[in-house]
Amino acid sequence: MSKLEQNLTMESKTLESSLSVPSVQELSLKSSQKVPQRYIRDDGDDVFSTFPSSDPSLTIPLIDKAKLVNADTQQDELHKLHLACKNWGVFQIVNHGVSSLKNMGNQVKRFFDLPLHEKKRWAQKPGSLEGYGQAFVTSEEQKLDWNDMIFLKSLPIQNRKLDLWPQNPPEFRETLEKYSEEMREEAISIMSFVTLALGLTDTKISESFSEGLYDIRMNCYPPCPEPERVLGIIPHADNSGITLLVDFGDFPGLQFLKDGKWVGVQPIEGAIVANIGHIIEVMTNGIYKAPEHRAVVNKMKERLTIVTFCYPSPSMDIAPAKKLIVEGNQQVYKNMTHAEYFDRFFNRKLDESFIDSIRL
Ligand code: OGA
Ligand code: NI
Repeated sequence: MSKLEQNLTMESKTLESSLSVPSVQELSLKSSQKVPQRYIRDDGDDVFSTFPSSDPSLTIPLIDKAKLVNADTQQDELHKLHLACKNWGVFQIVNHGVSSLKNMGNQVKRFFDLPLHEKKRWAQKPGSLEGYGQAFVTSEEQKLDWNDMIFLKSLPIQNRKLDLWPQNPPEFRETLEKYSEEMREEAISIMSFVTLALGLTDTKISESFSEGLYDIRMNCYPPCPEPERVLGIIPHADNSGITLLVDFGDFPGLQFLKDGKWVGVQPIEGAIVANIGHIIEVMTNGIYKAPEHRAVVNKMKERLTIVTFCYPSPSMDIAPAKKLIVEGNQQVYKNMTHAEYFDRFFNRKLDESFIDSIRL
């Protein structure tokens, strides 16, 4: 059996065992004081004992785009960006160029406010993550996230499965089109500053985001009667190049792991939270690392986020930049084509760290 055939068989196996789970919004509406056992974590962690505390060194770095584009302030801001990418793998950006955040947020809010049967017009098909539903579930024992979502591939245009793009609210599709185009421009721009911050003068990496892939996950975290016992999303690092997240909540829901401590992100209205994904970790030979993060939920309030996973062009190899492997700096990660990288990702062992599996 060829590798490809093997993969197809594996895919259809997961397909058969993919289980449908209830809408968390519906569970939340039932106003029961107890959360079903499948959502209750068994790690005993206190997910609310986080930072920022009074320690200012434990606040997610803030990058001002206006300072990056101004020649007088650029060097200082690039240095801040370098430290943010190196020490945190995440930063918040203000004064960016994306104008459709609010509009997109309103569309997503209106979509999740629709009755369940209406949302289900754009439901995930068995075995696929795209569309309205929940993250992939493969066993009855698996712990579930307190999260409903819509996941859509948006760019390039030929990757769109329009039958899964909501037509209610009526402006949803056109707003998402505009939003993804703006996010693509922002990703190219951020990547050009990230590579500059790293000291790379060639623009190959940032330019590869022009022909890149852009997948959008819109998350709804409904109120939860027992928020301390569940998670909105379990800890993970993203397999993207870079991830651009917009938080419509007004309380810290997203947390990043920094030196063994979970640090909450205090949302700033109109800001974008950018985090490094595994692809940039590989391309920078591990100088910038993809941080672990998770989401917690709230007892009273719903929280919505829109997450854009940005990938470089499929024609770009996923390999450490040659310029970074000089003077005794050993290559840490494998050279992979785009196809090899995704093949490894989709066939990874779930009990193993993905990033460790692509180390040399
Ligand atoms: C994700 C993610 C966090 C959030 O979708 O990969 O990390 O706060 N989301 O929605
Ligand atoms: Ni994530």
